[in-house]
Amino acid sequence: MRLAAFLSLAVAAAAVNVSNSDPFEQWHGPKAGDVRGPCPFLNTFANHGFLPRTGKYITLDDLTNGLFNAVNFDANISAFLFDFAISTNPEPNSSWFSLDHLTRHNVLEHDASLSRVDAFHGHADIFNQEAFDETRSHWGDIVNVESGAAAIVARMKTCKSTNPQYSLSQLGEAFILGETAAFISILGDAEALTVEKTRVEYLFQNERLPTELGWKRPEAQFTTDILVRNLQAVAVEYQKRLNSTVLRKRGVDYAERLMNGRARVL
Ligand code: HEM
Repeated sequence: MRLAAFLSLAVAAAAVNVSNSDPFEQWHGPKAGDVRGPCPFLNTFANHGFLPRTGKYITLDDLTNGLFNAVNFDANISAFLFDFAISTNPEPNSSWFSLDHLTRHNVLEHDASLSRVDAFHGHADIFNQEAFDETRSHWGDIVNVESGAAAIVARMKTCKSTNPQYSLSQLGEAFILGETAAFISILGDAEALTVEKTRVEYLFQNERLPTELGWKRPEAQFTTDILVRNLQAVAVEYQKRLNSTVLRKRGVDYAERLMNGRARVL
């Protein structure tokens, strides 16, 4: 009888261990001394332990394994993003970055974010409900490239009219389009380019993967080619919506800007 009780306890403990070791279930926010940055997704991955929970000293291996395990990124796209990331480390030729390095204004961090205020107004790395409310007011229940682009242009107009130091580099603009392409693809359907708004809200507001809303790690691998293709789809809608307030030349190749930006940081 005692043995049976012991065995059932052991089985129960093993079951708890199995579920406890699943990083999709293992979420907790940063502890004192941990760092986070302006990217809601990288913060999320650190909160689940897909990246170092401290948010510090993230190597190429950490990023490659973390992005593969969390959202099925192939190794090439992780290397592609890593080159951008380490360009924000103030230590030259470093082989790692920390999430708070990404906050350095106008390296990668840019004005007109979807969920952060401009650096001129305060903490450009911390989620800001008011900024995000403006963004999501432009999304329908399903976010697609049209409503995604409408939100981008709206944020640009607001930031441009309220920030006397507003600026947006060519790389920053390409990043903005890539960020929207990425969240639609990773939280939704990377082919149809649609995503349920509630999933996106959940991730931005909680910095947590929306598994409780039915989201699962994508089965198809995400590659740089898919990112570029989907960025271009957002760019088409974005260009249609530009007006004189945030005038840019038509016919810009934003994917090329992203690649040129990477060549510059290498
Ligand atoms: C090493 C990889 C990555 C780097 C270096 C990076 C870097 C950044 C940086 C610097 C920002 C701030 C831009 C701003 O000023 O608003 C940002 C925002 C963002 N990132 Fe990442 N990111 C990475 C991975 C990802 C991934 C995997 C996704 C999605 C699947 C993602 C989605 C986003 C989104 C949607 C934003 C916009 C936040 C906003 O505008 O409020 N990022 N990222």
